[in-house]
Amino acid sequence: MRREWAALPKTVVTEIAERVGGIIGVRAAPTGNHAEIASTVVGTSGMVFVKAASTGRSVQTLRYELTATRAVDWFPPAVLWHFERDGWLVVGAELLDGPHPDLSPGSPDLELLLVTLKSLQGTPAPPGTWFTPSGRLGFALPEMQGRTLVHSDINPTNLIRTATGMRVVDWAWTTEAAAWVELALLVQWLIGSGHSPAQAEEWLAQFPAWASVGHDTLDAFAAMNAAKWEVKAEQSKDGWVHDLAAWTGEWAQHRSSYTAKP
Ligand SMILES: Nc1ncnc2c1ncn2[C@@H]1O[C@H](COP(=O)(O)OP(=O)(O)OP(=O)(O)O)[C@@H](O)[C@H]1O
Ligand SMILES: [Mg+2]
Repeated sequence: MRREWAALPKTVVTEIAERVGGIIGVRAAPTGNHAEIASTVVGTSGMVFVKAASTGRSVQTLRYELTATRAVDWFPPAVLWHFERDGWLVVGAELLDGPHPDLSPGSPDLELLLVTLKSLQGTPAPPGTWFTPSGRLGFALPEMQGRTLVHSDINPTNLIRTATGMRVVDWAWTTEAAAWVELALLVQWLIGSGHSPAQAEEWLAQFPAWASVGHDTLDAFAAMNAAKWEVKAEQSKDGWVHDLAAWTGEWAQHRSSYTAKP
């Protein structure tokens, strides 16, 4: 859960200040809430995006994300430095400059996303120990196994439209899986951005991995993903959980009615 910059011990702030030539200002990220600290830091020698964690689970998550972002070129922000001090893990990354994209039907940002995703779809997972599909999602199909680098949480707040292309942040769920799994996990966000399930599938049909995955596999994936979010929604009051339950449910409904057609 997000905490104030003031939660950082003085020793940690001093180490950050040394790396940016003295801190002029700090601005907390307006989106996301899992990382304890996620802030733009303006220093005399430039700007950097800082993520920091101090509690067991969040340190583990940030350490995993650090390993992933250091192993992958260009898509994630480059890691500039990192250190551990007084129980805190602190990572300074390239500040990606730009807005989150608009993924609604017909948006020009979709073209930029297409370029980035096609490239990501062709990137094998780097050597390392990454989440398996079932470890990541809590359900599995044999077809979900694969060797591709799958971010697995591509959503508008984890995308930044920069002058040099659409970049991806928040690699805490990096997974080694079949390429289509990335696309199947994007359906819910396309629906959440205003696509009908059919429009979302039409857009995804531009990817070879989507075109080659079996209908039955997608039906099963959509049903299992929706069932998972339905259970989560029964146990949570968080708006985003209910949104995901609704959007995954819409897709599953669409797939089952499509399959039922003669
Ligand atoms: N390198 C970066 N440059 C610019 N902005 C960034 C960068 N990394 C993250 N952000 C911004 O900070 C927000 C939060 O970052 P991120 O998603 O990595 O953290 P999080 O709190 O773990 O997120 P979530 O709650 O989505 O899991 C992002 O939505 C993005 O707007
Ligand atoms: Mg995020």
